This record gives sequence, structure tokens and C-alpha cells, in this order.
Amino acid sequence: MNTQTSNNHQAPRGDHPERFSSVGFIVAAIGSSVGLGNMWKFPYITGEYGGGAFFLLFIVSLILIGLPILLAEMTIGRGGRGDSATAMFNLTGSKYWRLFGLMSVLCAFVIMSYYTVVAGWTLHYTVESFAGVLFRGGDDFRGKFETFAGSYWPVLWQVVVMAGCAWIIAKGVSGGIERFNKILMPGFLLILLLLMVRSLTLPGAGEGVQFFLWPDFGKLSAESVLVALGHAFFSLSLGMGCMLTYGSYVSRKQSLGVATVAVGIGDLLYAFIAGLVIFPTVFSYGLEPGEGVGLAFMALPAAFAQMPFGSLFGGLFFLLLAIAAVTSAVSIIEVPVAYAMNNWKWSRKKAAYVLSAVCLLFGIPAALSVGGVFGGFQPGGKTLFDWYDFTAAYVLMPLGGLVVSLFTGYAWKRAKEEAGLSGFWNGVWMFLMKLVSPILIVLVFLYSVGII
Ligand code: PFF
Repeated sequence: MNTQTSNNHQAPRGDHPERFSSVGFIVAAIGSSVGLGNMWKFPYITGEYGGGAFFLLFIVSLILIGLPILLAEMTIGRGGRGDSATAMFNLTGSKYWRLFGLMSVLCAFVIMSYYTVVAGWTLHYTVESFAGVLFRGGDDFRGKFETFAGSYWPVLWQVVVMAGCAWIIAKGVSGGIERFNKILMPGFLLILLLLMVRSLTLPGAGEGVQFFLWPDFGKLSAESVLVALGHAFFSLSLGMGCMLTYGSYVSRKQSLGVATVAVGIGDLLYAFIAGLVIFPTVFSYGLEPGEGVGLAFMALPAAFAQMPFGSLFGGLFFLLLAIAAVTSAVSIIEVPVAYAMNNWKWSRKKAAYVLSAVCLLFGIPAALSVGGVFGGFQPGGKTLFDWYDFTAAYVLMPLGGLVVSLFTGYAWKRAKEEAGLSGFWNGVWMFLMKLVSPILIVLVFLYSVGII
């Protein structure tokens, strides 16, 4: 077996034949990071774990763990010019690293299988809201959601999302992923700002802002720290080779440091504005700020039902969620697609359509497990949907992040040159990669699986 190390293995030279433009890369990376995690999870956990105090904690987590690993992923991707398995092998010549890389490809597959379920829900709600159907026949939005989730409709919407993603991916990096993100992300920001103005001008909006942002240091606990760290990870799409694969399509001229900071700020800003949309609306209508699914699909429709032009604002809100979900989903499925192209020499089209179809086969049981025909199948007390989420977000992603930090900190000696950091910043980065990130990731992992 070839066990050469980074010092003597020849890394690929030149740019990848498929390439993002400089702006396109940053927009696509922000599109990947801004997703359902920003739109519902971030506002909810912020309100729950200490408001403004948690927000500060999240910023610290982004700086300590998120941005350094983001930079590492982009650097490995560009240096090794491929998906995580290919890039790690190219940079070290070791089959062991290829195996670790393969784990992240698997993780992407699992995430895609359930992320497209929720993306499908958002599309269904967009259509129902714009059409006004959602607001007819009473205001039992919990019942409406349960009836919908328990039917076969989610499968149809999941097929739509999967087919849409495959179509975009099949069109290539610049003609598909970049072009699509460049169209959708500015539209996304526009709708978000419009909804923010609507929400902040509702009577009693201040109470919602207070719930979201009032710094309550008394609520901070060890748990808040771990939640903030875990969320920084998920929110930046780390640990499953997504930013690594996008990084492989970046020109050698692009400053990766600048891209890292831009994506970090973008992710934070979108999450912040999402909170300013959601909570003032919920509080202004005297609703309970529920969690996750409850907040987006049950509490908010009740607010839109009472608001003038509610079906328009509701439709825009769900469209926002749908755009966030789809720009992230595209980046997830690109990971196995890139793997198949690099390792099995499949064409982009074949990889996009075949892998999306296989992913759909895994995803359909998840779509039918939220109250549907597979709802009763709950090994270990979790539905299939919850198992997919747990395995990917709580086990495989932290492990993937750990691999990335150890690879950058210890195995690949030329990371510094590829990242292009100055001596001081490189020292800080290496310290974080070698010591701080691995320790924090292990803590988050142990917490997530219930060991601490
Ligand atoms: N960052 C996305 C979100 O916040 O919803 C989720 C995600 C996208 C995770 C892409 C992982 C990934 F590769």
C-alpha cells in the first residue's frame, strides 16, 4: 500500500477544469451555509438559550471552530482538487485518508435524504399559502400540518426538490450551481428584508425582538456552549465535504481567507435577520414561539392568517425557506456527485441523475415516517427521519470535522502555503486546528450522543 506522506506526495497543479468565478464561489458558499438551520433553528435556539448572550456565544463559536474548519475544508479541496476522498488521497497518497473522506460522502448522502423532505414541505406551503388554500377551513394549523405530513404529498414534493437539484447540478459548476445561486440569493435577501420591515412594524414587535436578543447571561450554561458550537458547525455546512468540494472549484488566485470571512459574515447576517422576521411576528399575534417544525409550519401560519395580505406574506416567507433549503440541498448532493465523477469516471449528468434517484429511494421512507405509513416504525424511539438527522448531524458531521482538523493540523504539511495565511495568522490557525477544534468537537460529539 502507498503510505507516502504529504511531504513527498505530488499535489495536483493548476485549477480544476470546472470552476466558479470569484464572486460566484462566495455566493454559492453562502447559499450552501444559509439554509433551514439559519431560518428556523438559529432563531429558536437563540431565544431559548440566552438571547443576545447566546448570540455572542455563537459568534465566538464561529470564530473558534467554524471559520478555521471552513478555511481548512476550502484549502484541502483546492489543494487536492476533488471531493474529500479524492483530495485527501491526492494530498497524502494514503488510502486511509481516502477512507475518511468517503465517510463525509456518505454523510452527505444521509443528510440529503432527509433535508429534501423538509425542503419539500416548504415548497408545498409556499404554493398553498400564495393560493390562499392554507388559510381556508379553520385555523388548526397543527392539525393541517399533521394531515399533510402524514399523507403521500410530501413524497411528491420531495421528488420535485430532488429533480430540481439534479437538474441544476447536471448543468455544471458555473452554468448550474453558480448561475442558480446568483439568481436566487439576491432575491432571497430582498424578500428577507421586506419581511423584516413588515415584521418589525407590527404592533408589539418589540416583545419578539426582546425575546430573541435580550442578553440573558443567567440562561447561559455548558449546554448553551455546546449547542452554539454544534450549530456553528451545521450552519456553515461543515464536516461532510461540502465546502471542501466547492473549494475544489476555486481558482488558485482566490484568497481563501477573504472567502472564509465573507461566508461567516453572510451566514451570521442571514440568521440574525431571520430572527427579526420570525419573533416579532409570533409575539405580535400572541403565539407561542414553538420549536423547529412547530414554529415554521404551525405557529407562523396562524400569524399570517390574521395579517392583512397574510397569504402574500406567508407565501413569501415559505418561498424564503424553500430558496434557503434548495441552495443548501444543491451543495449537499454535489458531494457524492463529485465523488462519482472523480472515482468512477461518471459523467456529471449521469452522476447527478443516478445519485439523486438513489438518494430519493433512501429519502422516501424518511418522508413517510413523519406521521405517514412508516410513522409507527420507530427503532430506539426515533422515526427514520430522526435517525437520519441524528446519524448525520450528530455523529458523522462532528467526526468529519475532526478528520478535517487533524488532517490539516498534522497530516498535510503544506496547508499553510495553500491557505496563503501570513505567519501570525497561520500560527493561530494551526493552534486552532491542532488543539482547540479537536477538543471542542469531541466535547460536542460526546454531548450530542448523550455521553456527557
Ligand atoms: N448549512 C445548512 C443549514 O444551515 O441549513 C445545512 C447544510 C447544508 C449542512 C449543506 C451541510 C451541508 F453540506
